[in-house]
Amino acid sequence: MIVAYSRAELAAGLKSLRAGSGRLGFVPTMGYLHEGHLSLLDVANQRSDAVAVSVFVNPFQFGPTEDLGSYPRDTDRDLALLEKRGADLVFLPEVSEMYASGDPRVMADPGPIGSRLCGAYRPGHFRGVLTVVAKLFGLIQPELAVFGRKDFQQLVLIKHMVRDLEFEVEIVGAPIVREKDGLAMSSRNAYLSAEERQEAPALHRGLAATVARFRTGERGAGALLETLREQFAGLPLLRLQYAEVVDRASLDDVDPVLPGSVLAIAAFCGGTRLIDNATME
Ligand code: PAJ
Repeated sequence: MIVAYSRAELAAGLKSLRAGSGRLGFVPTMGYLHEGHLSLLDVANQRSDAVAVSVFVNPFQFGPTEDLGSYPRDTDRDLALLEKRGADLVFLPEVSEMYASGDPRVMADPGPIGSRLCGAYRPGHFRGVLTVVAKLFGLIQPELAVFGRKDFQQLVLIKHMVRDLEFEVEIVGAPIVREKDGLAMSSRNAYLSAEERQEAPALHRGLAATVARFRTGERGAGALLETLREQFAGLPLLRLQYAEVVDRASLDDVDPVLPGSVLAIAAFCGGTRLIDNATME
């Protein structure tokens, strides 16, 4: 496995990977890897001849009051997991290496979709995400890139960016990987206290109950969201931030709810913000 810290090491590593020809797959991450991240590496490996992974905590996607300073990091563990799981190259730049010419003057504008759902509560977040993903695409030039459906709005925006700005990369969405009790895996789950961790699976239970109600024929968005909210009752550490049923491409609210619509939620569990989603099918 090639480990590249600088742009020069990345360029040299990519040259030797490219010498073997074929398709290059790419998985961008912020590290502190878990099975959700590693499943993306599996998907990339199945669909390409070599896979590059980036580990970079991107300051431009964190708001001023968010957890940039405390975001969990463990580079040695990440490298060991990636090597074992079959990554061919890992790019681990410092902030000064990634943003080598200083703060970016031009950034990728997510448009109105970037202000929906999470974007309404995290101004500038998706602008930061799209900008770093565009930079990574420019530096790595993969044929394919894999993103988790866990970050549903992020995946939708990246697909739109690639289409609207003519990036030559295939975007693949991968399923949400969950803990045994249903909690979607996330690096931020490390923040949860034992009591919070006990309440956190209510996000998934709420989504599952709502999908079950949809399957009984209920199509009213209000009634479906009521089913979701019931699962949060009596859990003092959980506070729903938003819950919306949206069209999976435009992210517009839908009512009546059609098959293929996505129920997206964000909730605070103590001080930790968790997101999750489910497709109505
Ligand atoms: P990060 O939160 O580290 O996630 C990296 C990738 O792993 C994303 O595509 C995310 O959707 C996916 N992922 C996280 N948890 C998952 C789970 N439980 N199941 C499936 N996939 C999961 O998302 C980011 O980093 C950043 O915004 C990034 C795209 C790297 C840009 O900085």
